[in-house]
This record gives sequence, C-alpha cells and structure tokens, in this order.
Amino acid sequence: MKIKNYIYLLITIALSSCGAELQQITFSEHIAPIIYKNCSSCHRPGEAGPFSLLTYQDAKSRSALMKFVTKTRFMPPWPADASYTHFVDEKVLTQDEIDLIARWVDEGCAVGDSSEIPAIPIFPQGSQIGTPDLVIKFRDVYKIKGNNQDQFLLMRIPYEIPEDKFISVIEVIPDNRKLLHHINAQLLSYEFEKKKDVFPGRVFVNLDSFPDKLIAYKELGLANDDGLTFPMLTQSVTNYLPGVTPPLYPDGIGGFKMTRKGALFLKDIHYGPSRVDTTDETFFNVFFAKQPSKRPIQEFQMGTFGISPTVPELIIPPNEIKTFTSSYQVPFDISILTINPHMHLLGKTFWAYAVSLKGDTIPLIKINKWDFRWQYFYTFKKMVKIPKGATIHTVGVFDNTRENPNNPFSPPQLVSEREGSMRTSDEMFQFIVTYLPYMNGDENISLDR
Ligand code: HEC
Repeated sequence: MKIKNYIYLLITIALSSCGAELQQITFSEHIAPIIYKNCSSCHRPGEAGPFSLLTYQDAKSRSALMKFVTKTRFMPPWPADASYTHFVDEKVLTQDEIDLIARWVDEGCAVGDSSEIPAIPIFPQGSQIGTPDLVIKFRDVYKIKGNNQDQFLLMRIPYEIPEDKFISVIEVIPDNRKLLHHINAQLLSYEFEKKKDVFPGRVFVNLDSFPDKLIAYKELGLANDDGLTFPMLTQSVTNYLPGVTPPLYPDGIGGFKMTRKGALFLKDIHYGPSRVDTTDETFFNVFFAKQPSKRPIQEFQMGTFGISPTVPELIIPPNEIKTFTSSYQVPFDISILTINPHMHLLGKTFWAYAVSLKGDTIPLIKINKWDFRWQYFYTFKKMVKIPKGATIHTVGVFDNTRENPNNPFSPPQLVSEREGSMRTSDEMFQFIVTYLPYMNGDENISLDR
C-alpha cells in the first residue's frame, strides 16, 4: 500500500514538473536519434570530439553544454550555409531538433523507456568509412620538436604488396590532431624491375633544411635504381585538413592504380607550432576497388598556387577588413564532385558560384562564418554541371582587425601570401575543385554513400 502511494506521488511530481499537456521529451525517443545521427561519429573513442556521446549517461553528464553548443550552432561543426547548397554528410540540426534538446535539458533529462533506446550505431574502428584493406604507417614515429615553429616536411612511406591493386580511396587518420595542419599525398608507382628495394632512403626531410627539392628527393630515394628516372606519380591521392573525411565515389568514378612496389609521397606535411616535444603517428587506410576506374578524377585550384590569380594581390593591411576575388572561365563542360574552400586565420567569409554565358547563376558554397578548424572537402549530393564558357567566381573576405579573435598578431600586422609559404600566420585564398569532363546524365548520379 505504502509503495503504491509513493509511486503515485512520483508520477504526480513528474507530470506537474514537465507540464501534463506537453509530451515528455525523452532520451530514448527524441534525443538519442539526434545525437547518433549528428554527434557520435566524432564524439566516440579515437575521434576528434573531446568526449563520447554514445550513452544516456554521456549525454546527461554533458547536457547543459549540449544545450549551449547546439543553440549557438557551434556543434555540430558545419560552416557551409545549408540554405544555399547541400552536401553529402551534411550535419546541421533543424530548429526543431535544437529546441527538443533545450527542452529535454530544461525538463531534467528524462531517459524515457530505457528498453526503447535505439542501438548505438556501429562505427568502424579507426576509420570514418569502414574496415580498410591495407593500412600504411609511418616507418618511424615522427618526433615533433617543441621549438614553437611551424614544420614542413616531405615524407616518403614505401610499401610492397603481393599484386597490383585498384584503389577507391585513401583515408588519413590523424594521430596528433592538434598539430597536424595538412597533408597532401601523392602516389609513387614503381615498375617492378626498375626498383629492387623500395625501402632504403631517409624517412623524411624537413623543408627548412632542404630548400633544394632535387637534393631532398635524392635523400628520400625517390628515383628508380638508375638514379636518373622517376616512377609514375599520381597527384592528390589523399588530402587532409582538420575535419576532413575523404569523398567515396560510386563504382567506376575516381580511384587509381597502386603497383606492387610503391610509396606514398607526402609532398606537404605541415605541423603547427608546439611548445613541448611531442610525436605523431598518423596512418593511412587504403580501400581497394573492385574494378579499375573508368573516369579518373581531375582537379584544379583557383587563387593561391592556382590557375586563376587572386585579385587584388593577397595583401591584408593591419586593421582592415578586405575582400578578394578569383575568377576562372571553364573551357569545356565539367561535372563538379567536390569543392574545398581554403583560407587561414584571418578568413571571415567565403562564397563561390558560377555564372553561365546565358547569365544563369549556379550556387556552389557560402560560408558566412569562416572557421579555420573545419575545412571540409564538400561533396555535392549529385554532380553539378558547369557548362563550357561559364565563369566560376570566388569571393573571400579577410578580417585583419583586433575584433578577429583568431588574429595571430596583436596588434594586427600586415599579412600576405608570401611566396610559397603555407605558414598559418601567412594567408592563403584558395578554392580546390575536383571534377570530371561532363557526360550525359552526370547530374543524376548520386554521390551519397
Ligand atoms: C565533425 C566532428 C564533430 C561533430 C559531428 C560534433 N562534434 Fe562536438 N566537438 C568536436 C570537437 C573537435 C570538439 C572540441 C572543439 C574545441 O575544443 O574547439 C567538440 C566539442 C564539443 C563540446 C564541448 C564544447 C566546449 O566548449 O567544451 C560539446 C558539448 C559538443 N562538442 C557537443 C556536440 C554535439 C551535441 C554534437 C551533435 C549535435 C556534436 N558535438 C557534433 C567535434 C564534433
């Protein structure tokens, strides 16, 4: 009798505190699905998020912060304006979802019927994609000196596999996520007879000590055994920037061949400055393809290092907010797959669109609040056709005032695109586009995994 009364009392309290007319917001029914879809891929062991969001306990113990970061749209991180264009794996909460999280927190984080909590999604270990067919690791742990300097390296990571393979994608798994700023990797494919042993040679060279690239290549042992000729080189087999997951295209699109003897050649590996000695053991997940690619991906970049100049020259005087553009007229019909806007710490907004000869505007991407930490390669849900003669325009605004909390200098100093420098305290204005020559029907091919 006593227990029954007690239960009635509890129910009355519960009903009065959450308003009997409103449906109660529970973890099992409302919150878990939002978190599993939008948060857990990063908030799980080994990934970028600083804590896990997998269980009711995880969510409850971070509930106030969750309410705050979703309301301010700090999380999930998705700099692209979802009212302008959409991309694969877009992570943007609806206003309803944000309100649900807020109500759930305000009402005391009810679990609901715990037997109804959806199963925690199964994420691949050490990958955002799946189980790799091959893992390529650094030959040695890389030791980062605590000298507070940017470090730029060339690294050659040799491998030997039993037979030639076709590759669909290579995924970079960053180890030292704090310091690893970017990687651009190429693939060296040796003809079997021309290189007896791919393993000798230095593991890496620091570009500051080897300004002459040819000497650096020699130290790394890039050449064939004759010392004169070089193996075949495939450009940009994988790129890494913070937050990047590589695009995985449908069968027959993209991909490349990997010969039995070869090496990943990290043409650019950039670590940001560190005050303490530390290490990095980034590795590479390789996924084989069933068939050779019929349509290899092509790439161009606009702006810094690109096929179209930045206008005016990228010089940003202190205490100024300044706009730059770059425009490129497309010489034949192309199908765009993926785009990557790139700026450094002074970036404020980024906008790209194309205008056809008929005057139609094709929206590409709008970033209203640039965030240096999240520089995705945005993959369109379906390829976007840019007709011959259309011009792609990019517009970047840089904020070199004190109001920019990411300004690397205080007081602000003149910042520019110094010849060949990728230092975080110098600037870049770049738009990387991967594309295929257009084929009929491309705009109907889904790029969603
Ligand atoms: C793409 C990866 C990614 C996704 C998706 C993501 N997070 Fe995060 N989250 C991070 C990283 C990285 C940090 C650390 C950021 C920092 O310190 O600046 C973080 C930090 C946080 C913090 C702590 C903020 C602070 O100031 O301490 C909270 C809370 C959080 N995330 C909640 C969420 C929620 C809720 C979602 C889903 C709605 C989500 N995150 C989705 C990567 C992610």
